[in-house]
Amino acid sequence: MDNFDVIVIGGGPGGYVAAIRCAQLGLNTACVDDWSNAEGKPSLGGTCLNVGCIPSKAMLDSSEQFEKLHELGDHGITVENVQLDIGKMLARKDAVVSKLTGGINFLFKKNKVTSIHGRGRLVKRDGDKWVVAVGETQYAANHLILATGSSPRELPIAKVDNDKIVDNAGALAFAEVPKTLGVIGAGVIGLELGSVWRRLGSQVTVLEAMPDFLPLADSAVAREAAKQFKKQGLDIQLGVKIEKVESGNGVTVTYDGKSVTFDKLIVAIGRVPNTTGLGAADVGLKLSDRGFIEHDHFKTNLPNVWAIGDVIGGAMLAHKAEDEGIAVAEIISGQHGHVNYDAVPWVIYTSPEIAWVGQTEQALKEKGVAINVGQFPFSANGRALGHNDTRGFVKVIADAATDRLLGVHAVGPGVSELMGEVVTLMEFAGSAEDLARSMHAHPTLSEVVKEAALAAGKRAIHA
Ligand code: FAD
Ligand code: NAI
Repeated sequence: MDNFDVIVIGGGPGGYVAAIRCAQLGLNTACVDDWSNAEGKPSLGGTCLNVGCIPSKAMLDSSEQFEKLHELGDHGITVENVQLDIGKMLARKDAVVSKLTGGINFLFKKNKVTSIHGRGRLVKRDGDKWVVAVGETQYAANHLILATGSSPRELPIAKVDNDKIVDNAGALAFAEVPKTLGVIGAGVIGLELGSVWRRLGSQVTVLEAMPDFLPLADSAVAREAAKQFKKQGLDIQLGVKIEKVESGNGVTVTYDGKSVTFDKLIVAIGRVPNTTGLGAADVGLKLSDRGFIEHDHFKTNLPNVWAIGDVIGGAMLAHKAEDEGIAVAEIISGQHGHVNYDAVPWVIYTSPEIAWVGQTEQALKEKGVAINVGQFPFSANGRALGHNDTRGFVKVIADAATDRLLGVHAVGPGVSELMGEVVTLMEFAGSAEDLARSMHAHPTLSEVVKEAALAAGKRAIHA
């Protein structure tokens, strides 16, 4: 039986990063992953690289380029006879995915991580080792890292057939642009993939159960985003109760007493942890009522068994899974691995983009924390005017007593890239003053962050 210091089960952003970091720290490491691509070939990278972050952003970029062509008139550029080759667009997306999934094979070879393709199952504890089975073959290890990720949550009345009713994977592979597209769930996937197909020409209706739009986001940001999406023609209906979904000549969705037929329907109502077939019950691995692996600082109830990423819950984000992977590898090696959950950036890659780090104004007010809030619009920023995109703003929230930065919330052009400096500053417990006094290149969109920080001290210069 092959013997390792560490076996990682799951090769998504949590698992593959944990495996590489373990190997860097001198541990003999294997990573077991069962993902196969459309050709049936092993494809590392999990949800994120295969059917999540990467292909969705490739399609968001392609569709945004297409939509922007229609705005070039403002720049004095006339474009005629614009054609859309959806097959080529999908092939480009697939090529981006292949490049990155192939890149993990390269990184595994470089770092001497043993890659094992197949489904891993916990078998037993044998002395001070764990035994894992992949098919008929068994492997032993001192430590196990479980990084099995998550899958789309099913809606029993709308079974995904990946033809008419699709999940995120199907929604990234429509062979032609649906004339009408229904989306159940106005969460991150619904908004991003709904935006892709709207930009390419679909009439998109998003049906959301909750009465509030984007309840996790700062409410001013959510309001501004809702206004912009409405302007674009994305029909978002809140507080909806889906009663029936029938597939026939299209998909007919009955909600709130009315029936609407769409060419295609995306179901995006959250994700559930992957623990089926893992052997959790056989070895006594503790799961929560909702199926997440229970843990305390990544340590499960079993000796030397660790868990990270989507399968332990919390924010289901690739960068959160990656940082947990690094932390756990360092803990196993006797170091002090740590993840700061107060500084997890969120980005929704719509247009305008939505991004935030830290606490919202409404949450802080509910807690009774005295805060200073500064807000600055992109409409007063030279670079945004040059880009012809002045939608949105940045909001900086600081503790009124200490000036410590508690949250930064943004909606507008390129705001995903503006969060980097904020995360770093929050990691160092920085203040709004630190942000306001740091020089920001002119003209850049990042000046809006600086001005919002100045506004928190009531001294914005350009507003
Ligand atoms: P996963 O990526 O799910 O990987 C788990 C891997 O383990 C998979 O390959 C799975 O097949 C494998 N596996 C499961 N069980 C076993 C087993 N028993 N044996 C062997 N292998 C097993 N996050 C972001 O931060 N930014 C984004 O822009 C973003 N966009 C997204 C877009 C979409 C459409 C979706 C669906 C998700 C997106 N996410 C994004 C979320 C992100 O993909 C996940 O948070 C991330 O992939 C979680 O990483 P993970 O390693 O925990 O699990
Ligand atoms: P989500 O949790 O973001 O949104 C699901 C939405 O569906 C919620 O608003 C919920 O109220 C709604 N809903 C649930 N049941 C419903 C029903 N029966 N009828 C109507 N609406 C219903 O989940 P989503 O969009 O599936 O994405 C899963 C996760 O993947 C995200 O939470 C996020 O962690 C990750 N992700 C991250 C991205 C990013 O970082 N840019 C992009 C896409 C996904």
